[in-house]
Amino acid sequence: MNASVVYSSMTGHSKKLALAIAEELDITAYNVKLEAPEIKNNDVVFIVSGIYDGVASKQLMDFIDNLEPDQVKAVALVMSSTTQDYSKCQIKRELEKKNIPIAGEFSCSGSFLVIKLGHPNKEEIKQAVEFARQIYNQYI
Ligand SMILES: Cc1cc2nc3c(=O)[nH]c(=O)nc-3n(C[C@H](O)[C@H](O)[C@H](O)COP(=O)(O)O)c2cc1C
Repeated sequence: MNASVVYSSMTGHSKKLALAIAEELDITAYNVKLEAPEIKNNDVVFIVSGIYDGVASKQLMDFIDNLEPDQVKAVALVMSSTTQDYSKCQIKRELEKKNIPIAGEFSCSGSFLVIKLGHPNKEEIKQAVEFARQIYNQYI
């Protein structure tokens, strides 16, 4: 089994979610803002992101733009935002264009100023980890 976590975080929520998933699965978490993820023969890549004015960060979109189907069998999304509406961000569309399957999607609240304060909370982080574990087990 070969899997990775790739995340982009502005206020720390995605980092928290990504590191919890990486610890549970004992895999590497790459912060796309700091390093180029090394994705080679991966069964699954967990992409963890917030939404900012409707879209994901440029660095994360650049990573997806450069991801090829021979690097990964499938991607799983772990998203947090105030609205939990990430339909306008291009992540899914870009993956579909590249014929990279989406193994599953998890979404939870992520606070912005006082909106959804306290989220993602411990329970949501636990649910994200359980989601990732289920996906991981499917791909073994
Ligand atoms: C500058 C900024 C813009 C945001 N815009 C949106 C938005 O358009 N829609 C939404 O649902 N959430 C929005 N949010 C909330 C974030 O998606 C949410 O806080 C997310 O959990 C952030 O993840 P991060 O802490 O990893 O950066 C915004 C947050 C910030 C800081």
